[in-house]
Amino acid sequence: MKQDLQMSPDDQMAAYTEAVWSGLYAKRTGLTGKYDNVRLYWEDEITRIFLRPHLQRLIERSQGGMRRVRILDLGCGSADGYELLRGVRRREADLEDDHVNLLSPDILGLYKGVDLNSDLIAQAQALYGDRPKMQFEQCDFTQGLNSAGGNRPFDLYFTSYGTSSHHNDDATMIALLADIARQSGDYCIVICDWLGRYSYEWQTLWTNDLSENRNMDYVVSYIYEKDEREAKRDELQHLWLRLVSRQEAEHIVSEASREAGVAIRPLQYFDRSVFTGRHMDTADYNPYAQPIRQVVNSLHETNVRTELQTLLVDYVPKPGFEFLNDYFEHLQMCWNTLVVYTDCLLHHYDASERRFHCEPDPIPASYPPVLQEAMRKMRGLVEGIGWLETGLPRENIIEPQLGYALRYLVMNLQQGLGCGHGLVGIFEIDKR
Ligand SMILES: C[S@@+](CC[C@H](N)C(=O)[O-])C[C@H]1O[C@@H](n2cnc3c(N)ncnc32)[C@H](O)[C@@H]1O
Repeated sequence: MKQDLQMSPDDQMAAYTEAVWSGLYAKRTGLTGKYDNVRLYWEDEITRIFLRPHLQRLIERSQGGMRRVRILDLGCGSADGYELLRGVRRREADLEDDHVNLLSPDILGLYKGVDLNSDLIAQAQALYGDRPKMQFEQCDFTQGLNSAGGNRPFDLYFTSYGTSSHHNDDATMIALLADIARQSGDYCIVICDWLGRYSYEWQTLWTNDLSENRNMDYVVSYIYEKDEREAKRDELQHLWLRLVSRQEAEHIVSEASREAGVAIRPLQYFDRSVFTGRHMDTADYNPYAQPIRQVVNSLHETNVRTELQTLLVDYVPKPGFEFLNDYFEHLQMCWNTLVVYTDCLLHHYDASERRFHCEPDPIPASYPPVLQEAMRKMRGLVEGIGWLETGLPRENIIEPQLGYALRYLVMNLQQGLGCGHGLVGIFEIDKR
């Protein structure tokens, strides 16, 4: 950890420029790259699920006032926020509904994306520049909201995927939030997205003294596969990013409220990517990190069979952090129990007889309800389609569903403390 590293916002743009030029920031999904399966099926979806009730309320308010919704995406990259928000559903999709997205084209008034990186702005322009309700502008959000193109009120001030951690110094984050609070209309929602201070991926950086390790030297090594990563080690780009716990997020927001004289009310915090952060695969900041993201990517990959034993997590506790160790150990136990149970179901199922050749063990009533539910669903699934034969039911149905069951477990057990790769805060400003 380089404590003395100082990087200006412009210096940091080299990392994103290299990522764009490497081709690994291209919009395609799969086992690797920025838009790998975990990003698409876990991270984007988890974010959408947590945002859904708040976005729904926001849209209903705007509609009630006969106004369309205006969105400012701060650090928009290549318009990723637009893609994420456009995919938020009204609810879990019913089988019969064709139109389930909340943010329908007629509801959207304006999506404005701002970013400091000219290559990413160019990528966004190339993708969406022809749409009249989408605008992009190059600017630096550490210089305040006016410089970030936000002088007319927006309904949603959005950031995603650790962008708020680019405020290396809390003063610029507080100033930006205070600007938003002063300049917003009667009502708005603000989403902040930081790197979680206590992600298992960077356990070596954990500290009880919050004045230490406030920022991390974040190597953008994860976009390459292992061999390429090691070969390029000396040329890899670095970012200097703020690590944030729930306590620190609360402090930043209350300081901004005080500075603006306007209440910024926290609605929800959540941890995203608890065992599946990108640096689990690199083990760059924790020698005990296992490549869990890679295995979860494989679960969701079409026609690829995954060895389920490689999904088992062996969490190594850090002395002096009992509150975190307890949480991670509990999650590990639930995660592994679901994986082992699914593996047993697959071994006990007889496809020709269309039933289990020996009855799986009953699910103990002492297990957490979310784990019991996930196990019951996996059993129902294996019984329901194990006999299908065509279309690779294990690779293409059971394994992705195990991915979703694990995702459900992690989402329901997270506590919004900064224990995931991302710590997201959803806030409300209501001036009426
Ligand atoms: C982690 S990326 C997230 C990109 C995108 N929002 C997404 O969800 O994938 C952070 C983004 O913030 C931008 N950024 C970093 N510092 C910035 C600054 N000072 N002003 C404006 N944008 C900045 C970067 O160029 C990058 O596109």
